[in-house]
Amino acid sequence: MSQLLVKNLHVSIDGKEILKGLDLTVNQGEIHAIMGPNGTGKSTLAYTLMGHPSYEVTAGEVWFKDQNVLELEADERSRLGLFLAFQYPVAIPGVTVANFLRTALNARRRAENPEDKGVPIPEFRKLLLEKMSLLQMESAFAGRYLNEGFSGGEKKRAEILQMATLRPEIAILDETDSGLDIDALRIVSEGVNALSGPELGVLVITHYQRLLNYIKPDFVHIMLSGRIVESGGPELALQLEERGYDWVREKYENGVAA
Ligand SMILES: Nc1ncnc2c1ncn2[C@@H]1O[C@H](COP(=O)(O)OP(=O)(O)OP(=O)(O)O)[C@@H](O)[C@H]1O
Ligand SMILES: [Mg+2]
Repeated sequence: MSQLLVKNLHVSIDGKEILKGLDLTVNQGEIHAIMGPNGTGKSTLAYTLMGHPSYEVTAGEVWFKDQNVLELEADERSRLGLFLAFQYPVAIPGVTVANFLRTALNARRRAENPEDKGVPIPEFRKLLLEKMSLLQMESAFAGRYLNEGFSGGEKKRAEILQMATLRPEIAILDETDSGLDIDALRIVSEGVNALSGPELGVLVITHYQRLLNYIKPDFVHIMLSGRIVESGGPELALQLEERGYDWVREKYENGVAA
């Protein structure tokens, strides 16, 4: 079983410390949710785990499959089995969804077997159409440039399509629910659930308990001022929905954080 282990992570951007000693363990097969007020560093955590170069790790450790993740480039982390669905996916004009996914998939296959000749096109088409129908995406999407002119909800589906194609071992979903209409929320959640199982660990970042009715977390964590301050089960999300964050701030911002 693979485990993502984050220990005492400190991260700065432009000299400003955003993550201030964050601890988290996600095992394959588990679903974790992180909730927390705007600006507490949730996306910073996601970007740092994937290796975004702007985020400077000043202390702490990240381990995955016995590898020191912090020593790996973003593409190496991806080939190792880590995946991030972006809060704000970027457009890549000139690169179609199909080409992008086939290139990414082949890179992963080659990481496992340097002799691999790449997935044959008919096989890839079949795989892609199957995953697109799972997410109820029209096949025409495969030929469009990645995220160019996509609606907010289409971008989020395209992120999950990447996840479905690449089959990561740990997937971080940064506000994949934001901007989805009610039907799309259900479809995307069902897509994630269809991929879930003992092979996949999921870290969902969300502001809304509603998502967790669909994607049922084993653990819920509250993040405040760059640290995880409370961890519990799904009831923690219900408690936040009901009471907001004031009680968390009162409990943790006097002395520990901020
Ligand atoms: N590239 C950057 N340059 C300067 N400051 C940044 C940068 N990226 C993030 N920050 C700051 O780091 C803090 C944490 O941002 P982050 O995006 O991680 O928050 P978040 O918890 O994901 O918030 P939200 O819920 O709004 O998505 C914010 O104060 C933000 O302004
Ligand atoms: Mg964010």
